[in-house]
Amino acid sequence: MKLRLTINGVTRQVVTDPDAILLDLLRDTYRLTGAKQSCDRKGQCGACTVIVNGKAVRSCTTKVGRLDGADIITVEGLGTPANPHLIQHAFVLAGAVQCGFCIPGMIMGAKALLDSNPDPSTDEIRHALRHNLCRCTGYVKIVDAVKLAGRFLRGELEPAALYPDPDGPKIGVSHPRPSALPKACGTAEFTADIHLPGALEVAAVHSPHAHALIRNIDTTAAAAMPGVAGVMTAADIKGSNRHNYMVSDRPVLCEDRVRYVGDPVAVVAADTRAHALAAVAAVKVDYEPLPVVSSPVEAIAEGAPQIHAEWNNVCLTQPQIKGDAAKAFAEAAHVVETHFHTQCNHQASLEPETSLAYFEGEGDDAQLVVVGRSINIHKHLAMLQEATGWENMRYEEAFVGGQFGIKIDVTSEGITAAAAIHFRRPVRYIPTLQESMFLSPKRHPFDMKLKLACDASGKLTAMGWDILVDNGAYNSMGNVVMLRAVQMLSASYDIPNVDALARLVYTNNPWGAAARGAGPPQTHYALESAIDLLARKVGIDPLEFRKRNTLHPGQTKSTGAVVDEWPFPELCEAIEPEYKRAVAEARAQSTPAKARGVGLGAGAFGIGGPGDQSMVAVELDDDGGITVYGAVADPGEGNDSMLSQLAADAMDLPLPKVRLQTRTTENTTANGPAAASRHTYMSGGSMLDAIGQLKAAMAEHKATTGDDLRKAGAPTRYMGTKKMVVGALDPTTGQGPSFESQVHALQLAEVEVDTETGDVRVVRMTCAVDAGRVIHPLNFVGQIEGGMDMGVGLALRERYEYGKTKDWVTFKYPSMRTAFDMQTIVRETPRPKGSNGSIGVGEMTLVATAPAVLNAIDDAIGVRIYDLPATPDKVKAALGELAAKH
Ligand code: FES
Ligand code: FES
Repeated sequence: MKLRLTINGVTRQVVTDPDAILLDLLRDTYRLTGAKQSCDRKGQCGACTVIVNGKAVRSCTTKVGRLDGADIITVEGLGTPANPHLIQHAFVLAGAVQCGFCIPGMIMGAKALLDSNPDPSTDEIRHALRHNLCRCTGYVKIVDAVKLAGRFLRGELEPAALYPDPDGPKIGVSHPRPSALPKACGTAEFTADIHLPGALEVAAVHSPHAHALIRNIDTTAAAAMPGVAGVMTAADIKGSNRHNYMVSDRPVLCEDRVRYVGDPVAVVAADTRAHALAAVAAVKVDYEPLPVVSSPVEAIAEGAPQIHAEWNNVCLTQPQIKGDAAKAFAEAAHVVETHFHTQCNHQASLEPETSLAYFEGEGDDAQLVVVGRSINIHKHLAMLQEATGWENMRYEEAFVGGQFGIKIDVTSEGITAAAAIHFRRPVRYIPTLQESMFLSPKRHPFDMKLKLACDASGKLTAMGWDILVDNGAYNSMGNVVMLRAVQMLSASYDIPNVDALARLVYTNNPWGAAARGAGPPQTHYALESAIDLLARKVGIDPLEFRKRNTLHPGQTKSTGAVVDEWPFPELCEAIEPEYKRAVAEARAQSTPAKARGVGLGAGAFGIGGPGDQSMVAVELDDDGGITVYGAVADPGEGNDSMLSQLAADAMDLPLPKVRLQTRTTENTTANGPAAASRHTYMSGGSMLDAIGQLKAAMAEHKATTGDDLRKAGAPTRYMGTKKMVVGALDPTTGQGPSFESQVHALQLAEVEVDTETGDVRVVRMTCAVDAGRVIHPLNFVGQIEGGMDMGVGLALRERYEYGKTKDWVTFKYPSMRTAFDMQTIVRETPRPKGSNGSIGVGEMTLVATAPAVLNAIDDAIGVRIYDLPATPDKVKAALGELAAKH
C-alpha cells in the first residue's frame, strides 16, 4: 500500500506492506537508528519509543499501514550534538546518560509528557515512563532529567548556566561525558546501528537439552529455504572452535555434545533475519540425551557424570586458613550456623548480544573486522583469532548498551567471525533477546554454609565457610570469580580465625562469568546476614556490632594481608543519623498489614586483581592537545570522562583538547577488561604515568606542541604502565596480599513488607561510600544508584531460569514501577596509590545492597530468607512457618 508520512518534519510517500513495523521503516529504510530494539518486539522495553501524532508509542508494535497522514518524530528530529533540544541538554546535564541505549526512547517519552504537562510530578514522570526500561541509572537521574527539562522548557533556567567551564577545574566537576550528547541525540552508533551493505544475517540453532550427544545435524531442508546462503556447523570452522578465555572448554559451535540449554549447535546465514530464523527451525539435530548434572552437590557426588572428558567436575579448590578457627569456635560465647544460597542471574544489559564482521581487502590477506560489545578488545581479538584460525583481524568496540560483566567473555562474536570467514561475506548477528540470554554468561549461584562466632562482648572471633560455586557448563572465568570472593571473605571486619573452603564446580547449568561484583555480592549477602543474626543473638544493635568489629589500619584481612587505609568506621558514623531516623520512622509507621523494617549491609571491595597491569599511551598533538591511546572500554560507567578529566587536569588543558582513541585494537595495546572496577585505578594510573613522561620531554625540549617535539628529535608518543605488585593467594592456605586498594560502603535499606502477600517494597536506600577522590560527582553517584537498583533486583526479584526466563517480563526487569528513593553520602579519603587519589566504584555499589534489604525484611517481620531472591512466595511461606511456631 502507499501512504504519506511526515517524519521529523519531512513529508514522505511510502510504499509498504501494511503489516510492516514502524521500527523497521525508521531504522532500515530511513536509517534513523536513534530508536533501538532491546526486547523481542513485545513492547517491554520502550527503547524504540517515538512520537506519533503527539503521543509516545512503541514503534516495534506499531504497524505502518495504520499511519497514513501521521506525524512522526524520532530523537533525531529533536536536535543534533551541535544543536541539541532542551530535553537532550537536560538528560546530559542531569547525568542521566550512562550507556545511553535507553536514552532516545526515554527522551521521546519525556517529550510527549512535557508537551502535555510542562511541570510533571515525580509520580507523573514515573507513570509516563513506566514502559521505558533502564539498567544503568536506577531511574533517579532520568526523573531528575525530565524535571530539569521542564525547567528549561518553562524558561526558568538556561542550559548554559549549568554547563561547567571546560577550561575550569577538571576534578570533582561533572563535565558532560564526551559521549553523552551523541547518545542523547541518537547519533552514537551501537553495533546494530552500523549499516553493512550486502551483509548476511545469521541466526543460531540452540540446544533444547541440558546435556546430550549430537548424533547428527541434517541441514538439507534449511539450506534449501528461501534466501538462505548456507548452514554452518562446527566442522566448517577452521580454527580451534574454542573460546579460550582461561580454559579451552567452550566451543563456538558444539561438536559432538551439548552441555546446557542454549548451547549453539549450528548457524544459518540468509539474506534477511526473518529468512535466517525460519531456516533455523528447519535444521534437524538428532540428540541422544545424557544424564543431567543440575547442581554442584550432584557434580561432586561419587560416580557423577563428567561434564567434560578432559577436566574434572571440580574446576578449582581454594581453602583459606587463618589462626585456629576450631579452638575459637569451641571457646566462643555465641555462634550462628547458617546455610545460604544465591540464584543464577542475568546481568540484563539492555542491548542484545549483537556483533558484525566484514573483510577489508581481498583474498587470504584480507583483514577481518569484528565489531561488537567487547570490554576487553585485545583479549577477545586473540580468542577469536585462535577460535576461527584467521590471523589478520581487528576488533572495534561500538557504543555498548550496558554490560555489567556479561562482556568479560566473547558472546556472539565467535559465531559472527566464523560465519564471515565461512561465507566470505559481511555478516550481522542481531540475536533475539532469548538468544542473547542463551549466548551470554550468568552470575554464578553460590551455595554457602557459614558459621560465625563472637565473644561475650560481641567481638567476632571466628568464621567457617563451605562454599560451592556452580560454574555451569563452561569455565569462562569462574576461577577469578571464586577467588575474588575468597580474597574479600572477611569483608569489612577483623576476624582473627578463619577456616574456609571454596570449590568451583562444573554442572549442566548456564555457564557463569562476571556479573557486577563477581563473587563478593554472593558472599557478602551471607556474611552480612549472619552478622545481623549474631548481633541479634548477642543483643547488640547491628550498627554498633559492625562498628565494634571493623578492621583498622595495620590489622589483617582473612587473606592475612595488612591493610593501610580502612575508612569503614567513618562510614558507620556518617550513616548513623540516617539509620536512627529510619529506625524511628519504621517503628512509628509499621502496621500489622504493612510492616516496616530497616537493615544494614556493608562491604569492602578490592580494586583490580593480583598481577594486574595496564598500558595506556598519550601523544602530544600539533595544537598542543593530547590524544590518549588505550583500550579502555566504556560500556556506560564513564571511563571516557575519567580519562578526559584526569588528562586535562594533569596537562592543564581545556577538555576539548583531550582526544580519546579507546575503541579499536588497531592503535592500542592490551590493557585488560573494564571489570573489577579497575580502569580508574589501573588505566587512569598508566595514563598519568605516560603524561608524566610526556611532560618531562616537553620540559626538556621546551616544547608545547607535537611539532616542537618532532623538531627536537623527541618522540611525540609515550607509553605509560601501571602494575599491581600484589601476588595471588597461596593455593593451600588462601593467604597472601590481595589488593592495593579497596572501596568501602555501608548501605541502609528501608522496606515495607505486605504481610498478606509477602510482597516487599523498598522505600529508600542510602549508601555511605568512600572510593577516594571523586573525579565526576554525577557519574559517581550514578554508579551508586544504578548498582543499588540492580542489587534490589538481586535481593527481591531477578533470577535466570532456563526455559522460563525468556524476556524482560519473565526476568522481572526493574522499572519506574519498582524505582525507589535513594541517597548517597560520599566520603573522600584519598587513596595514595590511586589515580589522583581516585579508585573505581562501579561494583561496590551492589555488593552491600542485597544483605541490607534482607536484613531489613528480618527487622520488619522477624523472618530470615536464606535463598535469593526473596520473592513474595518465599516471604509468605516463611511468615506462615513463623506463625505456625507461635
Ligand atoms: S523494542 Fe519496542 S518495546 Fe522493546
Ligand atoms: S543508560 Fe539506560 S540502559 Fe544504560
